[in-house]
Formats: sequence, structure tokens, C-alpha cells
Amino acid sequence: MNPKQIAADKAVSFIENGMIIGLGTGTTAYWAIARLGEKIKNKELDIKAIATSTGSEKQAREVGIPILSFAEIDQIDITIDGADEADENLHLIKGGGGALLREKIVASNSKKLIIIADESKLVKHLGKFSLPVEVVVFGWEKTFQKLQLLGCVPKVRLENNKPFITDNSNYIIDCAFNEILDPAELHEKINAIVGVVENGLFINLASKLIVAYKDGEVKIIEK
Ligand code: 5RP
Repeated sequence: MNPKQIAADKAVSFIENGMIIGLGTGTTAYWAIARLGEKIKNKELDIKAIATSTGSEKQAREVGIPILSFAEIDQIDITIDGADEADENLHLIKGGGGALLREKIVASNSKKLIIIADESKLVKHLGKFSLPVEVVVFGWEKTFQKLQLLGCVPKVRLENNKPFITDNSNYIIDCAFNEILDPAELHEKINAIVGVVENGLFINLASKLIVAYKDGEVKIIEK
């Protein structure tokens, strides 16, 4: 089986009837949404969910997961999401799929955040993957320069030769730092720049990291 699917199935095994679930975004979270839908269809599970992107919401509705809005809930019980990089402290880089803002809002309002990943995502130090930063379109050129001053090589994310637009109508600037030695400090510095909406560093948000390997082995790192 595909390691992404193995990690997703393991995460879904922690879900119980009556829970409100946060649904992540990306090719790994895809498998968790598919498995949840299968369990609902087989009447093995009765849950409701909030999605982190329009894409995940669409998939969830297609597989029969009832979708709620924040106005209808108190707190999310468990969110299952992927990551672009994760270290042993469970600090993450997210946003490769462009959904980092909604993902962070959902994660911050969840009792537990389970991250699912294949082995390629587990790293010693964050930063090889360029850090996605969501910025307001107005004045993005100045925000770009301020990000550069933090020591990275920034690049506006493109799609079909035009700036990629997030679900929240913002741009993404991908910042190549190469190695991030103090993720918590960098997180604060980036979010202090006017024009930045949010960055893809997830610090102290994940409670469990499920890593699946090609040979089928599963490693769980918990906080
Ligand atoms: C989307 C994300 C994804 O979780 C991250 O990009 C991992 O995606 P994939 O599972 O496709 O590798 O943060 O914004």
C-alpha cells in the first residue's frame, strides 16, 4: 500500500463516533478523507467535519462526510492533516498546497492535530522545503522585500504563469531559507511584518505525527 494511505488509515483509527473532525488538504489528507467517507458509508462511523480548503470540502461532500461551519461548533476534536516537513519536536512546515491559513485556523481550534506523512517528510531541521507565507495582495512587493531581509530567497508562487491565489484571495510567497534553526523565532518575525497574513510554520500545534515507510512500517511520534 502507498505509505500516505497507510498513515491516513492509522490516523482514522483514532476517530470515534460523534467527533467533529478537521479535514486537511493535500495528497496525504486525501486518503484520510477517502477512508472517513468509506467508514461513514459502511455505517462504521458517525462524524461531522470542517474542511481546510474548498478542494477538501468538495471531496468530503462527494464521499458523504457532513460538513459544518465554525458557527455550528464549539471545538474540533481531532484534525488530520499532512505536512511538507516535520521535525522530531513536531514542528512543521505546511502550505505546499496553498491552504496554510485555513489549516492553521482549523489546527488552532482542534483539541488534537494528527499529522500524517510518508518518510520523506521527516527531517532533522526544517527549511529545505521553501516556507510558504500567505500575504495580502495590496503592497505585496514591499512585503516581499521585508521577507527577503529575514535572509531567505523569496518567490511569488505562480500557477499558469500568474500569481497563485489562495482560497482567501491572497498571494503565497515561498521563502527558501535552506535551514531554519529556530522555527519559533522565525514564526514571530515573519508574522510581525505588516502585509503577512500567516506563515506555514506550525509550532506546538501537532500532538501526534504518524510516519509511514515504504516497507509498511509505521512510526508514531507523540507530544
Ligand atoms: C497544504 C499542506 C499539505 O498538508 C502539505 O502541502 C502536504 O501535502 P501532501 O500531502 O500533498 O504532500 O500544507 O497546504
